[in-house]
Formats: sequence, C-alpha cells, structure tokens
Amino acid sequence: MDLDTLSRFATDLAIEAGKLLKKGYGTLFTISSKEGKHNLVTEYDFLSEKLIIKKILEKYPHHFILSEEKGRTGEKHAVQWIVDPLDGTVNFAHNIPMFAVSIGIMIEDKLFFGVVYNPMTDELFTARENQGAFLNGKKVEVSGTDKLDNAILATGFPYNVKEDPFYCIERFAKILHLGIPIRRMGVASLDLCYVAAGRFDGFWEVGLQPWDCAAGKIIIEEAKGKITDWKMGKYDILIDMPIMASNGHIHKEIHEALS
Ligand code: IPD
Ligand code: CA
Ligand code: CA
Repeated sequence: MDLDTLSRFATDLAIEAGKLLKKGYGTLFTISSKEGKHNLVTEYDFLSEKLIIKKILEKYPHHFILSEEKGRTGEKHAVQWIVDPLDGTVNFAHNIPMFAVSIGIMIEDKLFFGVVYNPMTDELFTARENQGAFLNGKKVEVSGTDKLDNAILATGFPYNVKEDPFYCIERFAKILHLGIPIRRMGVASLDLCYVAAGRFDGFWEVGLQPWDCAAGKIIIEEAKGKITDWKMGKYDILIDMPIMASNGHIHKEIHEALS
C-alpha cells in the first residue's frame, strides 16, 4: 500500500464530504434525536458517512472503518479508518456555520494520518506521522503561551452533561473563576485543530468518542502540542477518558486548574 496515495485519498475524501455538507447547509433536512433529546443527527450525517464509507471500500475493500453513525464496517485490518462524517451536528442543525468532517487513519493500532476539513471556512487541517501538521498546506505549530493567565482555552460538554460526568460542571466553574477567555465551538475536532494551529492554547472535555479526536490527536502532536487525560496520563482515543490538550507549556497548569 502506497502511504502517499492513502493520505492524499483521505484528504480528498474529507474535502468531498465537506462539500456535500456545505451544499446541504441551510436547506431543509431531516433532524432526529439519538440517545438523549439534545444529541441530534441529521440527514447529512448519514449522507456524508455513506459517501465516505462507499469511497473507502471502493478503493480499499478490506480496510476496517469505525464511523459515528454506522459503527463498524468490515473485519479487523491493519488499517483502521476512524470517521466523524459531521462533527458539529448541533451547529449544522441550527444553521450555525461551524462544523467539520474528521478522518483519522490508524495503521497497526497507531495513528498515522489525520484530516479535519471545515467546508464553511475552507480550512483543511492535516498531519501525517513525523511530517508535521498543516493548515491548507502551510505548516502550523502550537502557541508559545507559557502562562495559563495569558491563555485562551476551549471546551465542550457531553450530551449527558446534566449527569455531571467526572464533575465536569464543577471543573468548568473552576476554570471560569480564573477569569480567562473560554470558547465552546461545538466541534471537538476543530477545537483540537485550533490548539494545533495556535489559535487556542488549550482544550479539555469529557466523553469524547474516537471519531471526535482521532484526527485531532495526531494533528496536535505533529504541531508539537500535548494531549493527555486529565491526570496527565496517556490519552487513548479508543477509551472513554477525559481529554486535555494544550501547547505543552501550560499543560500542568490546566491539569492543576481541573484537579
Ligand atoms: C460533538 C461535538 C461537540 C462535543 C461533543 C461531540 P457531534 O460531536 O464535537 O463539540 O462537545 O462532545 O459529541 O455529535 O457533533 O458529532
Ligand atoms: Ca463528533
Ligand atoms: Ca458526528
């Protein structure tokens, strides 16, 4: 398998699916709830996912795919695609132009490539193992902010936030008390890419799924950022654990603020 072709193909696919979402944005489409009233899914989540799976299987019929709406496609394979066909569904459903397609590729259980495409801003974030992170083809790196008091952070909330998993409400309040700027964009994949590009200095959330953060994880790491769980331990995208991402310099301070 040619890895350049694989990366190029994944990138083109994210762009193609993003364009499909952009075409559907603001039109009349069906919206329904998944588990929990606020966890929405639209017709376009399915259309984008269908397109992505179909194209992957046409080119790589034996690859394994894990995608948000369909779950698993195929048998165990050294190459695993991890796909969020529409990250930011609640935004999309409310005609808020902030959402993305996120595709991560693991080879032999290790992240090899990630692409996140925001069709509304035409911003394409990519990273390949040991080759750096890029925004529209230009190399990006995390910010140099070295004090939490000078930082801008982002977060998100799980759909079951009212159950307060990991005391995320109290921890959010603790960070709010610091008085620093905080954003909640509603698109975890882009939150991670914004940390990679130095727009945000850090990000934390609970309850993220593999498709939310597979691409973002390699993009942050290739941009020289840091990604761990809240206890500064190893972050495994396949296991449900609170995530903490940053430029590295303020990682410990975020950890302390969340503790
Ligand atoms: C959601 C978004 C959101 C995050 C949620 C995710 P979806 O993904 O990434 O920012 O806060 O935890 O579930 O449902 O729009 O694909
Ligand atoms: Ca998502
Ligand atoms: Ca999604």
